[in-house]
Amino acid sequence: METRIDEIADGIYRLSTFVPDIAPPAGFTFNQFLVVGDAPLMFHTGLRKMFGLNRDALARIIAPEQLRWIAYGHFEADECGALNDWLAAAPQATAAQGATGVMVSLNDFADRPPRPLANGEVLDLGGGKRVRFIDTPHTPHGWDAGVLYEESTGTLLCGDLFTQLGKGPALTTGDIVGPAIAGEDVFHYSSLNPDMGATLRSLAELSPRTLALMHGPSFAGDGAAALRALADNYDGRVTSALKEVMSDRVAA
Ligand SMILES: [Fe+2]
Ligand SMILES: [Fe+2]
Repeated sequence: METRIDEIADGIYRLSTFVPDIAPPAGFTFNQFLVVGDAPLMFHTGLRKMFGLNRDALARIIAPEQLRWIAYGHFEADECGALNDWLAAAPQATAAQGATGVMVSLNDFADRPPRPLANGEVLDLGGGKRVRFIDTPHTPHGWDAGVLYEESTGTLLCGDLFTQLGKGPALTTGDIVGPAIAGEDVFHYSSLNPDMGATLRSLAELSPRTLALMHGPSFAGDGAAALRALADNYDGRVTSALKEVMSDRVAA
C-alpha cells in the first residue's frame, strides 16, 4: 500500500491510502488531512496499524514533530486509532475533540491531556488558518461526532459524511451525492436520526467551497447544494424507517 499526497485547498493536504481488500472489488480509501499553519493540525490519525505509512507520508510535507494539533471527528479506529503513536511522534501536539468526545473517551484514551472544543469554537492555527469545530451528534454516527471547518479556504473536513467506495481522484467537481447514497446502501453506516437533515442543512449554511471526505475524493464546488441533497436523502431514509415502524405497530 502507498499513501498519496495532494494539496486539495491552499495549505490543506490530503494523505490518501487505498485499501483494495475492503469492500472488494471497489476497494476503499482512508484519508487524513493536514492543515498547515504556524501550528499544523491533522484531522484523523488513521488506523493504528497504518501509523508507519501515514507518518512517512506526513514527513514528506512537514516533520511530524512540528504537529501541534491532532483532531478527529468521532471515536473509531480509523479516526483516532493511532492517536497515541502521533502524540509520541509529536511531543508538542495536543489532541483536540468536542467536549462530549473528551468526556466520554479522550480523557481516558489519550496519553496526554486533551483539549475539549466547544461547539463553534475556533482554533487559530496561525498563518491565516482557522478551524472551527462543529458538533454533529449522531451524524453520521457517534454521540461525539463533529466536523472541522477551515475558514480561510472554506473547506469542510467532513469525516465520514459522503463516504463512498472505490478509488477516485484526489479532487473532483463531479457528483459526490450519488456515490454517497450508494455507500450508505452498502455499509448502512449512518445512525439514522430525526435531526440528521437539520444537522446537514446547518453545515450547508457555511457554503463550503471544498468538502474534504475521509472516504472518497475531495469535492470542489457548491458544497451547500451537495449537503442539502444529502440531507434530503437522509430525510427520506428516516421517514420511511419511521413509517415502517408505525405500520408494524398498527399491524401488531
Ligand atoms: Fe466513522
Ligand atoms: Fe471514517
